[in-house]
Amino acid sequence: MASGGIPMWKPGNVLHEGAEATVTEGSWLGRKAVLKSRRARSYRHPDLDRRLTRQRLAVEARVLSRLSSIGFPSPRLVFLDQRNSSMLLSRIEGGTLFELLKSGDSSGDELFQLGGLIRRLHEIGISHGDLTTHNVMSTIDGDLHLIDFGLSRQSPELEHMGLDLQVLRECLGASHSEIDGAIDRVCEGYIAAQNSGNDAESAENVVDRFRKIAGRVRYHG
Ligand SMILES: Nc1ncnc2c1ncn2[C@@H]1O[C@H](COP(=O)(O)OP(=O)(O)OP(=O)(O)O)[C@@H](O)[C@H]1O
Ligand SMILES: [Mg+2]
Repeated sequence: MASGGIPMWKPGNVLHEGAEATVTEGSWLGRKAVLKSRRARSYRHPDLDRRLTRQRLAVEARVLSRLSSIGFPSPRLVFLDQRNSSMLLSRIEGGTLFELLKSGDSSGDELFQLGGLIRRLHEIGISHGDLTTHNVMSTIDGDLHLIDFGLSRQSPELEHMGLDLQVLRECLGASHSEIDGAIDRVCEGYIAAQNSGNDAESAENVVDRFRKIAGRVRYHG
C-alpha cells in the first residue's frame, strides 16, 4: 500500500476499495484518520491517467484546506503525499447518507439539511461535482459532512451549481426512489439556507437552472 511516504501513519483496515480510490482507516499521532490513495486506471493512457490523478488530488487538497479553514463540515487535510497520490484526512465517524437512508433510521430531516449544506458550499464559491449519497456522511450527532471533492470547482458557473442538484436528483431517483419528493426536500433546504448578504447566485436562480437541466434530461436524455 502506498503509505510509505507518510510519517507517523499507522494503517488499519481498508474501508473502501473503489474504482478510483482506496480508503484505509488508521491513526496519525493518536488521532483517527483515513488514507485516501488514488490508483492508476489501466484502461486510460498512462500519461493521461497520471495527469488526471494528479489534478484531482490537487483539486481535492486545495478545496479541503479552504473548507476546513472556514469550518465547513468536511474532512481536514492532514498530509498530502503527491508522490504516492495519497492524502491523509481526518476521519469522519459515522456512515454514509446512502447507508442511513437505506437503514430506516433516518430522522426524515437529512435531505432538508443536505440542501442547506449544498447552499453553504455554493455561497463559499465551490461546486461539488459528484454529489451522491455516498459522498455525504452523517455522524452519530446527526450532522452531515461532505466528502470526495476531486471533481469540485472553485468559482463555479450557474450551470455547475444546477448540475450538483441534478446529479443528486439522479442518485435519489436511482437509489432512494422509496423516498417521496426527495429532491424537493433538498431544494427546500437549499432555498431556506440562502444568506441574503451574499453576492453568490441566488438560490432561486440555481434551483431554476436545476429544473431546466432536469427538463432537458427528461425530454432529450
Ligand atoms: N474522511 C473520511 N472519514 C471516514 N470515511 C471516509 C472518509 N473519506 C472517505 N471515507 C469513506 O470512503 C468512501 C470513499 O471515499 P471517497 O468518496 O472520498 O472516494 P471515491 O473518490 O469515491 O472513490 P471511488 O471513486 O474509487 O469509489 C466514502 O464513501 C466513505 O465511506
Ligand atoms: Mg466517493
